[in-house]
Amino acid sequence: MSITFHKNNRIVHMKNETISYIMEVLDGKYLVHCYFGKTLRKYHDNGQDYFFKRAYNTNNHLSIEHASLDDIQLELPVRGRGDFRIPVLSIIPENGIEYLDLHFKEWNILSEKPKLPGMPSTFGNQTEVETLEIICEDKIAKVRVYLYYSMFHEKGIIARHQRIENYGDQIIVIRNAKSLSLDLPSQNYDWISLYGTHAKEANLQRFTLHHGIQKIESVRGSSSLQHQPFFALLSPKTDEFHGEVYGFHLIYSGNFIAEAEMDQFGKVRAQIGINPDTFSWQLKAGDVFTTPEAILNYSQHGLNEMSQNFHWLYQYHLMPKQFENMKRPVLLNSWEAMYYDVSRDKIKEQTDLAKEAGIDLFVLDDGWFRDGLTSESPIGDWKCMEFKLPGGIKSVAKLVHDKGLKFGLWFEPEAISQNSQLYQQHPDWILYVPSYAMVEGRHEYLLDLSRTDVRDYIVHTFDTYLKDGDIDYVKWDMNRPLTDVNSQLLEKGQKGEIYHRYVLGLYEILERITKTYTNVLFEGCSSGGARFDPGILYYVGQNWCSDNTDGFDRVAIQSGFSMLYPPISMGSHVSIAPNHQTGRYTSLDTRYKVAKLFNLGYELDLKLCDKHELDAIHLQISNYKTMQELVLNGRFYRHDTFSENYQMWSLYDPKKEECMVMIFQKFYTPLSARGLFKIPYLDSDVNYYEISSQKIYGGDELKNIGVSIPLVQEDFHIFELHFKMN
Ligand code: GLA
Repeated sequence: MSITFHKNNRIVHMKNETISYIMEVLDGKYLVHCYFGKTLRKYHDNGQDYFFKRAYNTNNHLSIEHASLDDIQLELPVRGRGDFRIPVLSIIPENGIEYLDLHFKEWNILSEKPKLPGMPSTFGNQTEVETLEIICEDKIAKVRVYLYYSMFHEKGIIARHQRIENYGDQIIVIRNAKSLSLDLPSQNYDWISLYGTHAKEANLQRFTLHHGIQKIESVRGSSSLQHQPFFALLSPKTDEFHGEVYGFHLIYSGNFIAEAEMDQFGKVRAQIGINPDTFSWQLKAGDVFTTPEAILNYSQHGLNEMSQNFHWLYQYHLMPKQFENMKRPVLLNSWEAMYYDVSRDKIKEQTDLAKEAGIDLFVLDDGWFRDGLTSESPIGDWKCMEFKLPGGIKSVAKLVHDKGLKFGLWFEPEAISQNSQLYQQHPDWILYVPSYAMVEGRHEYLLDLSRTDVRDYIVHTFDTYLKDGDIDYVKWDMNRPLTDVNSQLLEKGQKGEIYHRYVLGLYEILERITKTYTNVLFEGCSSGGARFDPGILYYVGQNWCSDNTDGFDRVAIQSGFSMLYPPISMGSHVSIAPNHQTGRYTSLDTRYKVAKLFNLGYELDLKLCDKHELDAIHLQISNYKTMQELVLNGRFYRHDTFSENYQMWSLYDPKKEECMVMIFQKFYTPLSARGLFKIPYLDSDVNYYEISSQKIYGGDELKNIGVSIPLVQEDFHIFELHFKMN
């Protein structure tokens, strides 16, 4: 890994064994993007664009003949001086004119990767990551911009963010501050991103980029079910294994924008960051604003390599260190068994059976604090209903612990309902716009996390429950989008800050709680995967992907999330059949196979299982424990993502001694006879033994011929293969 400067300090070349990132200072002023992609030995600076003299264009008096800012690849594009493409930064300085001309000032190699104050970010020591800081300034507006490029040693990853400093003596207003801008040369690109809705998250969409702006965004206050804060630009024939990929992912849990503009000449500008549509920020004299961190990910071997890069980064350089090597307990969650109707007797029955089945952790989901059996009963006071659970949570924890199980508890700390005591005492603690009727979501409003008193209340609530060590796991839920987004405490000129301040408030609460109770495993949840984003993953060990626990749908949902997240960050539960969300029947074995490459859990009424099923669950859990090391440290790959009828997952141990494969035949169709599935990442020079068929295969055979799978007359049939080095 190296950062070198050439040509009188005019060009910088950042590189590791995989990627190079090259920038140049043009005419001592503008930061120009030269190259990002596969690593280059040396940059000879001969690839500079020749510009055609065009009419109807601006003249920026640049030393390159005929060039205009509208035609140059820029690292810090702003509006006003002839670059008409999307800007990465828009500021109204003290003179009230939205206009900036930012000139290069200096670049510095930092000894450590900077932390982002109050926000999640990737981390690594000096041998793992190297950071370049670039400072640009507009001396008239008195604005300084600091750009950060942190290149990770091992992979094609650069973490980026920017800081904006007001070094004048008046307030300025930031209207737009995205985390990164990347200009790519004129080529054909496909766009992919992950869209969804409740109970159907993380669906892959792909289209060819056309002239103009293409974007996805969230304005719902959280990263959202509708779009993951991610997109990638691909060379046209890219699949899971081949092709060039530029991936963009934002480490942020609020409103975002992810966009690409193909300009008049076919060049592409890609940006990701806070959504400017719902954002403005007053920056006082001397103050600094820091954007969230965005990840730039380059792969020259298709989508799987991009995913491997993200998985590695998020497991070892983002999620809390104590979870990076922790095998997750196999859990039983009460939700689909009890819904809101929880009771001590039921918990006793379920945990008796859970213990026999080999489950490690019992999670008491929603219902324990509600005085009724629906979401209409109050939320926000966090007092256990003793008529449901005599002796309160302490007593339930004791019951569960006495059986030798760990105990987990569900919270939705951001929510408050009008019929709660908390609301009666503090009606001003919620997000609302005076004089207007408030909008409910799941019978709740949201607390104003920008307020210190609200944040202290939530932290205090957790202290009450966690301080005595009664709780080993917390499911942190959040079940509605933000509306009426206004804080009573913010001044008129700061009203545009509230969405971002909500997220900063959430991060402060999570930081205080998760850094105090490091023995507690936190799971993020938001009506399923509505806030499954890298920002939350910085604080928690795992996320709940979806309220849809149907095996068939889960294949697509988990495949989608696996684009970005490692298996160890995802919870996957075996629930009852027919499934509560889809009504579909799948066998217990099928449901287990869909879950077993992730963090296994059960979410069903064990009393409805007969002896045969309980024995099967017991066997599943023992089987899972024998392969859990793979779930923790294995490399997860998708195959046949673009195939109509088959989907395949493989999970390899890093030494290539073992590999688990799941092949999903979606529908029975006489049009396919049998499938040949290649297992490409095993060692070609050794033989492998497949456990169920007891056959021996050469690693080279698995790679080049593949395994032949028969057609089965069944919809949604799963073939499992398990190879061990022979
Ligand atoms: C959300 C979660 C579910 C469950 C319910 C409880 O929908 O995603 O898993 O916890 O809330 O109300």
